[in-house]
Parts: sequence; structure tokens; C-alpha cells
Amino acid sequence: MEKELCLVLDFGGQYNQLIARRVRELSVYSEMVPYDISYEEVRAKNPQAIILTGGPASIHGEDAPVCDLRIFDMGIPVLGICYGMHLIAHKLGGEVKASSIREYGRCQLKITGDEKLFKGVPETTQVWMSHGDSIARLPENFEVTATTDACPVGAIFNAQRRLYGVQFHPEVKHTLAGQDILRNFLFEVCKLRGDWNLSDYIAETVAAIQTKLGTKRVLCALSGGVDSAVAAALVHKAVGDQLVCVYVDNGLMRKGESEQVIQTFKEQMKMNLIFADVGERFLAKLKGVSDPEKKRKIIGEEFIRVFEEEARKLGEIDYLVQGTIYPDIVESGTKTAQTIKTHHNVGGLPEDMDFELVEPLRLLFKDEVRIIGEKLGMAEELVWRQPFPGPGLGVRVLEEVTPEKVHILQEADYIVREEIKKAGLDRQIWQYFAVLPPIRSVGVMGDGRTYAYPIIIRAVTSDDAMTAEWAQIPYEVLDTMARRIVNEVQGVNRVAYDITSKPPGTIEWE
Ligand code: XMP
Repeated sequence: MEKELCLVLDFGGQYNQLIARRVRELSVYSEMVPYDISYEEVRAKNPQAIILTGGPASIHGEDAPVCDLRIFDMGIPVLGICYGMHLIAHKLGGEVKASSIREYGRCQLKITGDEKLFKGVPETTQVWMSHGDSIARLPENFEVTATTDACPVGAIFNAQRRLYGVQFHPEVKHTLAGQDILRNFLFEVCKLRGDWNLSDYIAETVAAIQTKLGTKRVLCALSGGVDSAVAAALVHKAVGDQLVCVYVDNGLMRKGESEQVIQTFKEQMKMNLIFADVGERFLAKLKGVSDPEKKRKIIGEEFIRVFEEEARKLGEIDYLVQGTIYPDIVESGTKTAQTIKTHHNVGGLPEDMDFELVEPLRLLFKDEVRIIGEKLGMAEELVWRQPFPGPGLGVRVLEEVTPEKVHILQEADYIVREEIKKAGLDRQIWQYFAVLPPIRSVGVMGDGRTYAYPIIIRAVTSDDAMTAEWAQIPYEVLDTMARRIVNEVQGVNRVAYDITSKPPGTIEWE
């Protein structure tokens, strides 16, 4: 049976990856590609549905991005969103103009036509708008199918050519019927089956890894992070003991973390795991160093040295598993887009070692990686683990790192994590942890004066770590954490809560 694909042409809008994710949530496989993909490439991919995304450009701008227009004549249904709709209208003979009012945010859409795209959608429904231009004159054979007070052309279609456009953003949650509209496009207009699922993905990926590796051995650096852990589990399912995992305990892990990695991978999943217990070596290198960037560099380089040593001991190995995921590899469609991020790999590769990469998650979004992890039977704590920086507690013990300070921080951090989980907030808060600053203050405990460290609690909500809001944790939860930290962690006499968002703060303190 023909594989279904919804191709998303990226014109650089900030919600674009969300479109591909929403389509996949509807069980249709989708890929996001730059808008200037060649016509031949589109044909080779053989999509049954095409979505043109929004973007920051104006259709009249000097470098307005334009896709190959033959795409409109392939007989494949096309849905243009915002800029994507302007492009359809402009290129097919309509007129797009700068609106007098810039429409931004929630507004009410009135539906006036199009029984397929708006099937089951209430006549008036809230949508999310974000545009400066709008359509002033329709191209021939197009009809208006929805309007808002400020925008007479809220949606258009040409039923015969199956070309559709919406001015609003169906992928954003504030568009209440957004997912219904996307569903209608895929199933009512494009007549897709919707048979993409992650169990099949696991089976296909396992088979592909087996074919690629044959009987060869493959190495994986485990950080305990979600991506590398799930990647390792998938490769292990494919080739079992041909996979060797190296876990480097750099002495800067959180309390209980190394034990959990051993428990999961070695004891539960019976993986071939090399546990490099080299904390002392890292701490010796960090002695006397207080500059954050120098600390990062030392920790990164030492990691590579340890990894190299372990790899050399193993002898001939040709392949390396990387937990690269889809957002790491999709490049944004326009150079001006704000979504461009640098691609960073797990741990860093030894430069002089020549491995071929195995990247079993490179087509998946983070939430899909987590579902795969669950399907493979991995522990919930691992699959839903909050992001943790490569340099670990090395950037949360501010300035010089000593074994004593690491110990204090591990204990305090453990309490923060425990209380957040108890309060049921662990899935809502993006990251929550403790920071140990290099100062001490006076306090009183029992009958005596204390002179000890404060602990700073940091907790933020975020979607992608690019921006973040400080988390509004209930006072009772903060109160319990503060009392427990001062009572249970020796060397701490005060607790502060960081109420800075990002920007201007960063999530980490160093
Ligand atoms: P900031 O502190 O820049 O952090 O707001 C953004 C996100 O990146 C994580 N982070 C790191 N991850 N190596 C990493 O692998 C690092 O050196 C590093 N520094 C920050 C941070 O935890 C947050 O999720």
C-alpha cells in the first residue's frame, strides 16, 4: 500500500514545527521541508497532501519566498496558512494588500462556506490570527469561505483544483477548532487513511538498523537524557549485545541518577553497559576554576577523553548511536526565521575517531520519542526526565566546584524534585532544580548562630527553552521545600526562589 505523506513547506513562521506535529497527531506522517524544495524532489517524495506554512515575510517584500508553482498543478490538495494563503492568492492572479489594522491574537471567525474543510465546525468559532497583509481580491474561481470583523477574507478555496487557504493559524491551540480543520483537510479533502503510528515506526526502524549494522558492533554514549536513552533502547532491540553503552559518571550527576541508569539499562534491559566512575578525575580538573565557560570546557573535554579511552579499550567499532531528533535537523525555510537553532549532539564526538552514525530518532519530535520510550517499556522517570545540562551540577554549583558543595547541592536538589513530584507539578514545569551560590549568610538555628550557604530554587515553564517563565509554584509547596532543605541539608541555612523569566535571565545560573 502506498505510504501516506503530508509535506509541509516551511516559509519560516514560528509555529511551523507545530503544524507537522499536529498532522502526526492525526496519524498522518508529515515532513517539514524548506519552501524552495525542487519540484522533482516533491514528486519523488510522492505526498498526498501539501501544507504551505505562515512566515514573517510579506508577499510584496523584496525577498518574498516563493515555492515552485508547479506544485499547484499536481492535483494534490494544498492548504496555505497565512503567508501560504497569500502566496496562493498572489500567484494565481489575486491581490494581497497590507491591511489597515494588524490583526493579532484571538478573534471570532464566521464560516460562510466550504462543507469539507469546516465540516463539524461551529458557525462562529475562535481562531488565532497573526498577520499584516490580507487578500483584497480573489484569484479566479476562488470563493471566500470564512470572515472576521477585521478581515473579510478569512479563508478561501477552489474546490475543483482543491486549493485551500486560511488566514488564521489552525495549528495553535487558541484556534479552538484548529485540529478539526486539519483533520478535515487530511481526511475529507485529501481522503487519507491515517495509518502512521509509532509501533510501526519501531518495527521499521528496528529492521532498518539490523540491515545497516549486520553483525557489526555499535557504541552509544548514555547521558541518562531522554533522547540518548531511547535511541539506545531502540538499537538494543535491534541488535542486542552488539550495542555497547558507555555511561560516564562525572561526579556532577544528581542524587540517585547513576543508580537509576544502571538499574534501567543494565539490570532491567540487560544491556551491555560500561560504567565509567570518574567523578574524582573531573573534580580534580575543576579545582580552583571559577569561570563558567572554563568549567564547561574542562567538563566537555574530559568527557571526550574518558569516552575515547573506553572506546579504544573495546577495539574495532564502526558505528556510533546518536540521539539526534527531528527539531535538531529541520532547518528553517527562511534565513530570517527566528527558529534557527544550533544543532548540538549528545556529549560531543571525539574528533579523530571515525564512526558512522546511527540516528534512529532523527524523524521524531520529542513527545514521540517519549511515547517510543514508553512503548519499549522504559521507566517513567527516565522517559519524562526534565532536561539536564551536559556539564551537570558543574554549572549549578556557582564558581568553584568542590566535592562538599556538590554534595550539598545534590541533597537540596533531591528535595526540590521530590516535592515538585509530590505536588503533581513535574509534568507542568519544564525544569526545576536547586542552585548553590558561592556566598554564606548569617542565620539562627536552635540556640546557635549559623553561617552557611543559601540554596536558590529555580523552576521555569517553557516550550523549547528559548524563552521561559518562572513557575508560579504554590506557596505551600515552596514552604515545604524551604523547611526541608534547611532542616535536612547540612551547611544550608536559607532558601531563596528565583522569580526571573528568560529573557532577561537564563534558565541556568551559569
Ligand atoms: P539557558 O541557561 O541558556 O539554558 O537558558 C537553556 C537550556 O539548555 C540547557 N543547558 C545546557 N545543555 N549543555 C547542555 O547540554 C550546556 O552547557 C547547557 N547549558 C544550558 C539548560 O538546562 C536549559 O534546558
